[in-house]
Amino acid sequence: MSKGLAQQGREQWKSRTGFMLAAMGSAIGLGNIWKFPYITGEYGGAAFIIVYLICIALIGIPIMLAEFAIGRNTQKDAVGSFQELTPGKPWFITGIFGVISAFLILSFYGVVAGWALSYTTKAMSGDLLAIPPDKLGDHFGGFIGTSLGPILWQLLFMAIVIVIVVKGIKEGIEKWNKILMPALGVLLLILVVRGLTLPGSSEGVAFLFSPDFSALTGEAILVALGHAFFSLSLGMGTMITYGSYVPKNINLPTAATGVSLADTGFALVAGLAIFPALFAFGMDPGAGPGLIFITLPAVFDLMPFGQFFSVLFFLLISVAALTSAISILEVPVAYFMRKFEWTRKKATWILGTIIFLFGIPSSLSLGAWSGFTIFGKGFFDAVDFLASYILLPLGGLLTALFVGWAIGKKKAEEIGGLAAGGFVNKLWIVTLRFIAPVLILIVLLSSTGLLDVILKAIGLKG
Ligand code: TRP
Repeated sequence: MSKGLAQQGREQWKSRTGFMLAAMGSAIGLGNIWKFPYITGEYGGAAFIIVYLICIALIGIPIMLAEFAIGRNTQKDAVGSFQELTPGKPWFITGIFGVISAFLILSFYGVVAGWALSYTTKAMSGDLLAIPPDKLGDHFGGFIGTSLGPILWQLLFMAIVIVIVVKGIKEGIEKWNKILMPALGVLLLILVVRGLTLPGSSEGVAFLFSPDFSALTGEAILVALGHAFFSLSLGMGTMITYGSYVPKNINLPTAATGVSLADTGFALVAGLAIFPALFAFGMDPGAGPGLIFITLPAVFDLMPFGQFFSVLFFLLISVAALTSAISILEVPVAYFMRKFEWTRKKATWILGTIIFLFGIPSSLSLGAWSGFTIFGKGFFDAVDFLASYILLPLGGLLTALFVGWAIGKKKAEEIGGLAAGGFVNKLWIVTLRFIAPVLILIVLLSSTGLLDVILKAIGLKG
């Protein structure tokens, strides 16, 4: 009875398009515009991209479908959905990991998004392009190392996220994604056309699309898989939660494929907006995390109408980060609303505030608190590492095993929305049962250093 009532009152997406845009908004974010370009640059370009594409197709799409399917079938949050499908069993711990990951990821995600907001205003005022190119690195390092400034920008960003999530699924999340995602597409398009029409841009295109497999290391493969999870918003219950607002008549396999393709396409096109410009002006593509904050402003400085394009670019990052951050906050919000019967307003404000506060040490660890380390990493890097390279793959692994084994074959074949008894359905289950778990396990073992220990123990490594 009470369950029936709770279900009746539960929110849903207004339209298929709204759901698709929200899921794309979640996937497309800092991962695409900040992380993807710099790791592609660090790991050598096209060969890395090919491995990344294989990870998306082989593991990303099947797990995204698994998350959508779990959510839609149960119409519950990241924890409740596991309880509903396997009552009395410990599988719900997967969801608890998800809620914890959401706290961790959003805490430092908000810090980086704050930098992007700040750079947007610096670009608008003209201050950014007034900095001599050789001083941009010092400027960035100085800015993120300041105590108060970055925290205030992070606060502003988190406040915007909270205000949107408070409004709920239809009137908050869906409505804003419907406005912001098309805007994002237009911004990116303008930047790509600009990048590709610069003289000397073809070298950048070659860097992205002509592979040199000799540059590919074991580490590059691990980073590619880890990033596939991060970029597709998997392993944390985000897509379970968004899937739980999906009406019964929407085709999930098409949605999972569409969202994954859009996310991947966006990363590649963002690469096309960035690398040709870098090469055209002789900048280093392997500059690391500072790539878009240090190297790109130098590029804008040299470009005709550079200020205009620099504003567009940092606006693009801020908007992409916003639609992703919304989806991360929704994971704990949906959980606390059901579990503790909090109103959406209460859950969003309390959880959003806690996450903001938790981000403060991350921000400070890049300056005033840089002496404080955990396992040799600063707080920011430690949180990123724990969440992105341990908790997300672990969440993905458990999700694959859950649908592949725990809920029973019949149920699994039913909930994905793939043709009953069909080849694709069987392939999906086999992927969730064997392929994805084995590959993820390898990544997990290696990122924790356990792989080395095992390889040494069995004599495969000196
Ligand atoms: N996918 C987003 C990006 O690329 C970030 C993100 C949103 C995310 N939700 C997530 C990452 C859930 C991991 C898990 O920026």
